[in-house]
Amino acid sequence: MPQKYPLPETRWPTRAEVRQSLLFAPMQLGSLSLRARTWVPAMVPWRATDDGLVNQDVLDWYGRFADGRPAVIVVEASGIRDIASGPLLRVGHDRYLDGLRKLVDVVRERSQGETRLFIQTIDFLPLRRRPEKERYLREFLVLDDGHRERLARIDGMRAKAEGEEGMVREALIELPHETLLTVLLEREVEALEFGARERVTDTHLPHIADLPQTLPGLFADAAGRAREAGFDGVELHYAHAYTMASFLSRRNDRDDGYGGSPEHRVRLPLEVLRAVRERVGSDYTVGCRILGDEVIAGGSRIDDACHYSLALGRAGMDFISVSKGGKFEDAAQPRVGQAVYPYTGESGHECMPTVRSSAPGPFGRNLPLASEIRSSLRGAGLETPVIAAGGLCTFDQSEAALRAGHCDLVGAARQSLADPDWWLKMELGRGSDVRRCIYTNYCEALDQRHKQVTCQLWDRDLAPDDGVSRSHDGKRRMTAPPWAR
Ligand SMILES: Cc1cc2nc3c(=O)[nH]c(=O)nc-3n(C[C@H](O)[C@H](O)[C@H](O)COP(=O)(O)O)c2cc1C
Ligand code: SF4
Repeated sequence: MPQKYPLPETRWPTRAEVRQSLLFAPMQLGSLSLRARTWVPAMVPWRATDDGLVNQDVLDWYGRFADGRPAVIVVEASGIRDIASGPLLRVGHDRYLDGLRKLVDVVRERSQGETRLFIQTIDFLPLRRRPEKERYLREFLVLDDGHRERLARIDGMRAKAEGEEGMVREALIELPHETLLTVLLEREVEALEFGARERVTDTHLPHIADLPQTLPGLFADAAGRAREAGFDGVELHYAHAYTMASFLSRRNDRDDGYGGSPEHRVRLPLEVLRAVRERVGSDYTVGCRILGDEVIAGGSRIDDACHYSLALGRAGMDFISVSKGGKFEDAAQPRVGQAVYPYTGESGHECMPTVRSSAPGPFGRNLPLASEIRSSLRGAGLETPVIAAGGLCTFDQSEAALRAGHCDLVGAARQSLADPDWWLKMELGRGSDVRRCIYTNYCEALDQRHKQVTCQLWDRDLAPDDGVSRSHDGKRRMTAPPWAR
């Protein structure tokens, strides 16, 4: 049975303790001076326009995080291609620059110039929603002789299997579901039950075979735009279910020099870094997010992550932010009409652990991964800063992680969502005012349904008609309530 872990009891620091703390001590990150070691990791809020442009909701969202004056905010995963991707931010064309400049200005203003703003740049491969069975079998399945042969082997199906195409398709629709699955190939079963999903190993598709040629330029262009818009740095998204993480995956068996051995798997991430560096120069901060563990069968583990980190650190990566899991391979089956969501299976759970996690519970759960990566970097004489995340939500826990050398910066995503002012509250000795995240993932469930992300704790005092900006369903605050000091 899943266990339930209570929030760690805590006491909050006095101002004197804050002054002596590592958490609030300045540090250097690449060419940037940071005021503290406090970090808000990327979180997609489903706020941009349908064309991926910055709008007032996006400005309000990031402005609200800036009120708490963390040292760094990483703007959500933003697409590097100029393709439709719904209300997710994009940085794949110069027309996004005006909006992104406004975003930078808002964060500067509301953090009083104290927060550094990075943007996470992402590439992802096409993913289809789970289709209706009849539609899949009538329209999408590419019928060939193999289907006919396998159908013919089923009792009473020979004549239909030899009939014209429409007859074969109707025969497939009539089959009991389990029998149908024996007629389809593995990828067709996946397309039917989960929605078709391209992989980096589909090298028979020219655009997949060409990824090593196309991605460095796309990432470099996006980073160039980030710099032009005034961002302080970029975080290359090499984590979770997306293209670059799939190149790093131990499951990547491409035989073109970009898969197979760890050296080949990290080759494209290094080439992307080189292209980005050439575009933005050596004085611009370029880091990445990687997985300390993919948490899927046959996937990369911590020793792979250490290998990649060393290679990336030696190549001049300015920071490495460590995440865990969040893969498609073990994701739950979506409902018809929905897309598979990589934060549902075990790997997803490890990415955003909840109070129902297995031992040792969600709080600091992923610190050992950051710690091992940091040790292997330091062992090789590299000073690359490492960012940890995963259930980090108290001063004592954060300070202990820094003092023990598990990480160099403390990332808190959901705690910052629950209370964007929590950093400032701690800093001002007002920790008892912190609204504490309860780690039950209401926010993540909204993300899964592609709904505007909000926190369940924000609405406790929401009165009807009080004029606050609300979500499309009219029931939820769009940003955290103000801190009544
Ligand atoms: C709503 C939501 C959206 C997220 N979006 C992203 C994202 O765009 N990129 C990313 O690397 N991680 C994303 N994450 C993962 C967080 O950055 C973080 O790694 C994870 O929530 C664990 O940290 P925490 O326990 O402090 O929340 C998201 C998390 C949440 C809750
Ligand atoms: S919705 Fe729940 S898990 Fe998400 S930030 Fe709020 S309290 Fe935390």
